[in-house]
Amino acid sequence: MVLVMDFGSQYTHLITRRIRQLAIYSMCISGTSPLSAIKALNPKVIILSGGPHSVHLEGAPSLPIGFWDYVFKNGINVLGICYGLQLMVQNLGGEVKPAESQEYGRMEICIYKGSELYGDCDFVRQEVWMSHGDEVVRLPEGFDIVAKSLQNAVAAIENPAKKLYGLQYHPEVTHSTHGMETLRHFLCDVCGIAADWKLQDVLQEQIQTIKGMVGLEDHVICALSGGVDSTVAATLVHKAIGSRLHCVFVDNGLLRYKERERVMATFESELHLPVTCVDAVEQFLSKLKGVTDPERKRKIIGGEFIHIFDEFCLILEKDLGKKPKFLVQGTLYPDVIESCPPPGSGRNHSHTIKSHHNVGGLPEEMKLKLIEPLRWLFKDEVRKLGEILNVPRGFLKRHPFPGPGLAVRILGDVTELNALETLRLVDEIFINSIKDAGLYDSIWQAFAVFLPVKTVGVQGDRRTHSHAVALRAITSEDGMTADWYQFEPKFLAEVSAKICNSVRGVNRVVYDITSKPPSTVEWE
Ligand code: XMP
Repeated sequence: MVLVMDFGSQYTHLITRRIRQLAIYSMCISGTSPLSAIKALNPKVIILSGGPHSVHLEGAPSLPIGFWDYVFKNGINVLGICYGLQLMVQNLGGEVKPAESQEYGRMEICIYKGSELYGDCDFVRQEVWMSHGDEVVRLPEGFDIVAKSLQNAVAAIENPAKKLYGLQYHPEVTHSTHGMETLRHFLCDVCGIAADWKLQDVLQEQIQTIKGMVGLEDHVICALSGGVDSTVAATLVHKAIGSRLHCVFVDNGLLRYKERERVMATFESELHLPVTCVDAVEQFLSKLKGVTDPERKRKIIGGEFIHIFDEFCLILEKDLGKKPKFLVQGTLYPDVIESCPPPGSGRNHSHTIKSHHNVGGLPEEMKLKLIEPLRWLFKDEVRKLGEILNVPRGFLKRHPFPGPGLAVRILGDVTELNALETLRLVDEIFINSIKDAGLYDSIWQAFAVFLPVKTVGVQGDRRTHSHAVALRAITSEDGMTADWYQFEPKFLAEVSAKICNSVRGVNRVVYDITSKPPSTVEWE
């Protein structure tokens, strides 16, 4: 296993992902984790990531006491990248200083022949991605320079006797043209790691773990949202414990066009998951009546979901004669990493922009133990795991849909103005047009928004005073930042005409051309 220690670089997750793409299992933990956490993972290789700090400034994050003794005693290979290289140099007696000329962006480096780090590579020069303001001015004993930048700064170092290596640039970024080759050579040829990690192994491992955790008697519940993560997690747990998994899908009246029927049909006939569908339309809509504040809407919806799960558990307890003990959640690896960011990385969310409500996230008072089988996986790996589990491809490719549903896509009171019915029809036309144009998989998320404003129009020679709707489509990696999608004008014109011609009460369509930031993805 390759352990990546995160010192706050924006590329750290990418290192883990690239290594997994090489079919080698890799995990990432905070760079300031205690030694016990590192020992528990028993890594064969440790990679120290980059980061925004300067090693010579006070408060710069550092490795736990005893780290180097542990590494040397156990013959662990260490590769420092950028800040990681500088930390290694400083810790082991070398010197790092602010560079006279900083190196940011694409650079060329010159590789020396005969190093372990590069092996018999036939490229002497290569383009790499640099991002540093400090540089190594004196190496610790036993180290050699094995590559330099054309500005004459140290670009790569090694001390093969001690199994220590360092790259000043970022091999994980695609702009580093031979970065993947260098990582593969280092991990497989230098460190002797076999590239044989498969998602199939993760599946078998998880099934065994869940069987062990739950035993032969206990029951497990799962809240299905109709999204990819909770569905794949539930399908996996179902494979492990069969009918002792009890899923619930809540129709809160805020779902998309025919969502309940479509999702339930997939759960039941294609995935054979035991799902109870709770019709809570009245319960939610009566609580939302007259509410216009976005945060209040979110809080009300979150609270109602919790009531429903409480009731679901009570009913199960009566039927089964015992309380369910476990809860399945579709937590993904980025959520885990995000929840314990390294100091100074800027990856802590100090302001509440929106109270995100996830159907899977239930309060601690419910006293259920968590089963999170996707905890070590990235989104694309979850999709692949879903394919192995025979979750239909179309389902795995679905765009994300927020827990509070259409309530955050109807500005104002969701129960008024026929808003829900209108929005469902508009959204369906938009999404079907995107699918027909073959664009669905290139767009990260697309949806319509109902605006509580009326505008004047002319339809069939008659004046109308009807609603405006907005369309939004974005590209994104993870929803944290996003760009608006640039449709052909012809496509937008056709969708707009279809909507105005077939949805009663709409006479104007606008397209949202804002990125995130400054906007958010959802309008509320
Ligand atoms: P925002 O609007 O915060 O959305 O830029 C980023 C991504 O998160 C989704 N989203 C939610 N997902 N519960 C969820 O499960 C929520 O409360 C929620 N709010 C927004 C949004 O659809 C986008 O994909």
